[in-house]
Amino acid sequence: MGRSQYAIEAEGLRRTYRRRRGPVVEAVRGIDLTVRRGELFGLLGPNGAGKTTTIKMLNTLLIPTAGTARICGYDVVSRTREVRRRIGYVFGGDRGLYDRLSALDNLRYFAELYGVPPRRQKETIAELLELVGLTGRERERVEGYSRGMRQRLHIARGLLHDPDVLFLDEPSIGVDAVAARELRRTVADLAANGTTVLLTTHYMAEADELCDRIAVIADGRIQALGTPAELRGRAGREATLEDAYVAIVSAAA
Ligand SMILES: Nc1ncnc2c1ncn2[C@@H]1O[C@H](COP(=O)(O)OP(=O)(O)O)[C@@H](O)[C@H]1O
Ligand SMILES: [Mg+2]
Repeated sequence: MGRSQYAIEAEGLRRTYRRRRGPVVEAVRGIDLTVRRGELFGLLGPNGAGKTTTIKMLNTLLIPTAGTARICGYDVVSRTREVRRRIGYVFGGDRGLYDRLSALDNLRYFAELYGVPPRRQKETIAELLELVGLTGRERERVEGYSRGMRQRLHIARGLLHDPDVLFLDEPSIGVDAVAARELRRTVADLAANGTTVLLTTHYMAEADELCDRIAVIADGRIQALGTPAELRGRAGREATLEDAYVAIVSAAA
C-alpha cells in the first residue's frame, strides 16, 4: 500500500451508464492493466471505446460498476484523498483555463486551489513554465494563446501539485503539427523526469514515438497490448502502428 511498484493497477474494471431512457451502456467491460512507475503508457481506441471512462475511474471522478483500481497502491474508491494527491488530469479542448487572465495568474490561482505551499509557488510555477516552454509568454492573457500553447499551459496546471501520475486525455486534439511536436517533447520530458503518463491520442505516429507500451481498446475491452514495436510486428514486416491499430480494431468490430 503506497509502496506498489506500479503506478496504475486495474483489475476487472467495468462501468455501465444508465440513461434515463434507452438501454444501459456498457462503456467499459472488464479492463486489466498495470502501468509501471515512470512508464509512458498509451491508450488507443476509436471514439466511444471507453478510454475516457477508464481514465475517469482511475482518476476518482467515476466510481467503477465493478472491479478495482489502485494508483501508487491506493484504492481509487476507498483512498480517494491519497489518490488525488498523486494524480493530475489534462484533457484536450477549451475548458479549464481562465481566458481573461495571464498564464501566470492562471497558474497562481490553481496553485492556491491545489494547496501548493505559498513559499513554493513561485519556484514551482517558474519550473513548470520552463518545462512546457512558456517562459517569457507567461504575462500574456490566455485568450491570445494558440491551441498548442493552451495545451501546454493545461499540462503545467496539471503538474502544479507534483503528481506521480499524469493522465493526458487527447491533449493534442486540434493542435497544429508544429505545436503538436512541442507538446510531444513536453510529454517525453515529463516521462524522462520520472512522471508516469497515461496518454490517449488518435495520432498513431504520436503514440508510436512516445509510448513505452500501448493498449488498444475497443468496445470497452483491451484488444491488444504491447510495445509499439510488438504491435507493429504482429501486423506484418513493414507494418506501421496505424496498420496494426486498424487491424486490431477491425477484428474487434
Ligand atoms: N455520461 C455518460 N452517459 C451515458 N453514456 C456515456 C456517458 N459517457 C460516455 N458514455 C458512453 O460510454 C461509451 C464510452 O465512452 P468514452 O469513455 O467517452 O469513450 P472514448 O473516450 O474512448 O471515446 C460511449 O458509448 C459513450 O457514448
Ligand atoms: Mg474520450
